[in-house]
Amino acid sequence: MDLRLKECRFIDAFSVRIFVIYHFGHRSAWVGRLNTTPKPFYWERPGKTLSTIIDGKAFSANLRSEIARKIALLKQNHSLTPGLAVVLVGEDPASQVYVRSKGKQTTEAGMNSYEHKLSAETSQEDLLQLIDQLNSDPDVHGILVQLPLPEHIDESLVINSVAAEKDVDGFHLSNVGKLATGAEGIVPCTPLGSMMMLKHHLGDLSGKKAIVVGRSNIVGKPMAALLLKESCTVTIAHSRTRDLPAECREADIVIAAVGRPEMVKGDWIKPGATVIDVGINRIEKDDGGTRLVGDVEFETASAVAGAITPVPGGVGPMTIACLLHNTLQQACRINGIEVPE
Ligand code: GUN
Repeated sequence: MDLRLKECRFIDAFSVRIFVIYHFGHRSAWVGRLNTTPKPFYWERPGKTLSTIIDGKAFSANLRSEIARKIALLKQNHSLTPGLAVVLVGEDPASQVYVRSKGKQTTEAGMNSYEHKLSAETSQEDLLQLIDQLNSDPDVHGILVQLPLPEHIDESLVINSVAAEKDVDGFHLSNVGKLATGAEGIVPCTPLGSMMMLKHHLGDLSGKKAIVVGRSNIVGKPMAALLLKESCTVTIAHSRTRDLPAECREADIVIAAVGRPEMVKGDWIKPGATVIDVGINRIEKDDGGTRLVGDVEFETASAVAGAITPVPGGVGPMTIACLLHNTLQQACRINGIEVPE
């Protein structure tokens, strides 16, 4: 039944009405409402998901098992074990959770994990010295300095002190420049994971209209560069964008990366569009507890979109999987070895 409703969303309002009355009768038909803005008309049923859910948890589990298989081959054929060093400065609770999760998934994939936990008072000089040491350590192929850093440390200086070939975050200016110019470099993990899911779901993206809501260096800007590389027509929207809902309604692909809970509503989405929700926001529930939500209002958007990533279980799990992917790639590149097939 859902499938047929989905198909009829794209025909005119009159046909939708006839279809619904024919199948459900007058009394039970109007459990939703006919939305006539934006055009074309579409059928909106609150609480009912009509879109394909893009399952990032399953996708990332697949990717991680592929990475583990390739690492086993690398060990067997070249006696090479990729190594990832993660540096955490301070005790930010969210960062501690991420770092623990990265360490666990790194070892599960068969890589060496090196964790460096430094106090919040660590001087910039000491941090730079540790990075120097990791840069010249042949067992370390990827270095990630967890952000944000304490205020007394210059984030940009630290990011650019990591050797470009070990910068598995893809934040070093050399990698940013490569991505911007379409050269081969290291791509930031969250945009890379989002792009993998988009291509898996849509295939060729060429000619599609894409909007990236958010202009951060970590997600918004690299995501826009990746979409451009795939020959999309790309809009980058931000806090000063005029009539953001209207801009979103034009897009075949919506990437929400603003960090504002449930900001993108269902009536901002073109029927059938693909929605990638990068946001992870913890909000309070009525009963005093908390829950995670994205930057997209899932309930309304999933009634309109063709496909959508959930939160949690969408983009989030892909980020660490792509970190492992980047580390494997760099371990091979640094050692002049082809990545195993
Ligand atoms: N903090 C939040 N996300 C990230 C990330 O992708 N990389 C690093 N280094 N720090 C982060």
